[in-house]
Amino acid sequence: MSNLDGKRLLLGVSGSVAAYKSAILVRLLRQAGAEVQVVLTEGGSRFIGEATLQALSGRPVRSDLWDAAVEAAMGHIELARWADLVLIAPASANLLSALAQGRADDLLTTLCLATRAPVVVAPAMNRAMWEHPATRRNRALLEADGVTFWGPSTGPQACGEEGVGRMEAPEQILERLERHFAPGPLAGLRLLVTAGPTREAVDPVRFIGNRSSGRMGYAVARAARELGAKVTLVSGPVSLPTPEGVERVMVESARQMEGEVLARIEQCDIFVATAAVADYRPREIAPQKIKKGEERMELALVRNPDILAEVASLPDPPFTVGFAAESEALEDHARQKLRNKRLDMIAANLVGPGRGFEEEENSLKILWNGGGVDLPRVRKELLARRLLEIVAERYHEKQKHKAQGA
Ligand code: CTP
Repeated sequence: MSNLDGKRLLLGVSGSVAAYKSAILVRLLRQAGAEVQVVLTEGGSRFIGEATLQALSGRPVRSDLWDAAVEAAMGHIELARWADLVLIAPASANLLSALAQGRADDLLTTLCLATRAPVVVAPAMNRAMWEHPATRRNRALLEADGVTFWGPSTGPQACGEEGVGRMEAPEQILERLERHFAPGPLAGLRLLVTAGPTREAVDPVRFIGNRSSGRMGYAVARAARELGAKVTLVSGPVSLPTPEGVERVMVESARQMEGEVLARIEQCDIFVATAAVADYRPREIAPQKIKKGEERMELALVRNPDILAEVASLPDPPFTVGFAAESEALEDHARQKLRNKRLDMIAANLVGPGRGFEEEENSLKILWNGGGVDLPRVRKELLARRLLEIVAERYHEKQKHKAQGA
């Protein structure tokens, strides 16, 4: 059976010649068992007829925000709530710009503002338009808001040019949707992840930071979402977009990160601490920029809270996973941390030149009480996926033991 069976998809069709592909997409989605409600923009209606989309979707096409009769049957807010996912395919340059601005001057943009469901766009436009700084700006804004981009792909374009800007093939979009709705081993669980570095202010312009890129933590958040979890990411300053379907909270310092984590920890089942939290912060933050003077200058530091240890020692802690970066005696040090911080699991890796923080690849030694497994060096995305699969297994194992003990 398809993962799309019974899923409710709101398909936005905006003004691009690729709108003809939407008809094929609707057909594929219906065959997979999804309910499809098409919303056509004014521009979209110049490229494809309502009658076609209505016949294929089996539902009247919606296009007007002001049609009182249709609104009375299912208003736009109800429609926004109805959807499990909003997919805009094709998404024109104009539509992306309207979404990035948060406009609500037609039905589709209004629905995108009103929905809590994930919003995915499959752009289609001329290569030069896709590469224009304004479109790039809009994309960055939308990604930061949690909108996911599928495509565009490369190839010959309707305008006669060749390049990036084609809407992804309907078959490819269907495949991505199948993956999106695949039930995973973390389905129904809530996961909290910390990621990135922290910044500890010295004065209004300086801080103590570290080289963490946040890639591992973001990959963990994405993988957990893909495996079915509801994910919140508490992130230090990084330049990565919010992973699809993940709630993100940005922080700067260790103490802010601690506050945001503790505010949410009771609602979570699994906590994964990947952040490179500064162990120390300046004892005082100078109110004004510190001027140079003496040959030597000393900065007094004080300890920061250990967020991971704090979470693990709560009276009713979630399943807690820590990370350890070591330059030697990996297993010994990691086992010690596992014990001392009373963690359920630790993922340890060697750091040093060419390893760890700024690299695209990594390897991990995963340890738990009474067991462990080595994950060989692969891209962080794949590594995160394997780690989360093991987390899911160990989590369910622990729940089983708890239930038997009860
Ligand atoms: N951690 C945390 N809060 C801190 C410090 C660390 O939550 N203030 C978490 C990290 O996210 C990571 C793990 O604890 O999951 C790392 O443990 P830590 O003991 O800090 O290990 P190292 O950073 O390797 O430090 P050291 O070896 O210096 O003890």
